[in-house]
Amino acid sequence: MTPAEIERLGERAEAMLEELAAISEDADRLTRRFLTPEHRRAAHLVGQWMAEAGMAVSEDQLATVRGHYARAGGTDGANRVPRLLIGSHIDTVINAGKYDGMFGVVAGILAVEHFRDADKRFDFAIDVLAFGDEEGSRFPTVLSSSAALAGNFEQRWLAGTDADGVALATAMRDYGLDPDAAGGAALTPEEALAYVEVHIEQGPVLEHQGAPLGIVTSIAGQFRTRVAVRGMAGHAGTVPMTLRRDALVAASEMVVAAEAIAKAHPEAAMVATVGTLKVMPGAANVVPDGVDFVLDLRAASDAPRHAALATFMARCEEIAAARGCTVGFDTYHDCPTAACAPWLQEGLAASLERLGLPAPRLVSGAGHDGQSMSKLTDFAMLFVRCRDGISHNPLEFAATTDMGLAVAALIGFIAAFDPKQRPA
Ligand code: GLV
Ligand code: MN
Ligand code: MN
Repeated sequence: MTPAEIERLGERAEAMLEELAAISEDADRLTRRFLTPEHRRAAHLVGQWMAEAGMAVSEDQLATVRGHYARAGGTDGANRVPRLLIGSHIDTVINAGKYDGMFGVVAGILAVEHFRDADKRFDFAIDVLAFGDEEGSRFPTVLSSSAALAGNFEQRWLAGTDADGVALATAMRDYGLDPDAAGGAALTPEEALAYVEVHIEQGPVLEHQGAPLGIVTSIAGQFRTRVAVRGMAGHAGTVPMTLRRDALVAASEMVVAAEAIAKAHPEAAMVATVGTLKVMPGAANVVPDGVDFVLDLRAASDAPRHAALATFMARCEEIAAARGCTVGFDTYHDCPTAACAPWLQEGLAASLERLGLPAPRLVSGAGHDGQSMSKLTDFAMLFVRCRDGISHNPLEFAATTDMGLAVAALIGFIAAFDPKQRPA
């Protein structure tokens, strides 16, 4: 592939990302959460692109848009055919950048389009997947669409509600899906040869190394734990400081404790974040009697992550007791560290080498659909350098040339993909 062709792929990607970014729940920023009307519009657009690139398009029981590129030798329908899965997500965080997730979907579409234009088919089919619930920014589920595809959808998720009290089951019905049929989204291990995802790095490592692309070795494990602190409401003017059972002050100490616990484990690349916190009853002149917050805790390996959560919970119990409050926990997301398959990493490295690029390896601190897909099949990820490592922020940026190189690397990987190299 010539530099001009690579640049052109990057420009196509940029234009498609721009078009997707215009589909937002909010007028002045990009927010597109799972099963919203904007998710529907984005899914429709992605489906159109898939069809134009020569794929048969369908939508599964968890709203994942699937573009199917048939294998050599004619039509194979969409069922029971071994396929290489390529995907990412089209939902976003609140006030998002336009690359996170979307670029992986666009890269898959452009790669298939390349083969269609060259009249090239393989012994295996290719499915490009646009997942809808990777960020977990609406319901208390994370990665539910890829979990369903991997055969691990949990019925209890259907009762989880968003901030407006809408249950996942209701939102699915409103979207035109049948919640009772969620299990039908699953592929069998025989159908899935491997899952490969292209994604912006969302961190600064590649930029520091001067490398446009990198190969992920594993994805850090993650907890999301809802913490409910309860105290006693009172008059802000009359209850003396010594007699208060202020749930917010207790919660504040807990947030600081989480930070200290994570900071004590740099060897495990541990990070703790409280990014959402609800204060009740929520009035300026009332001592808060309730706080609900979510701890997002991650580490590069599972044992220290589990130990840190136990330490955090014990500290919270101490803090609550000392302030006459109570505390309860609900860990609704526990995703183990997922290792990328060495044979797929090598396939990606060989493709980078053919492009004359270095192939640095790195761990992903961000969560990805590969974590659920790892329960179905081997998976790998190609990371793309992003400016200043910024992500989950409208300042997120990846250069056109780097995106072009990523699509070219994916094309090279697919062209050389040999399922027989998979270790038995
Ligand atoms: C998803 O982007 C996550 O890592 O939270
Ligand atoms: Mn993402
Ligand atoms: Mn994200």
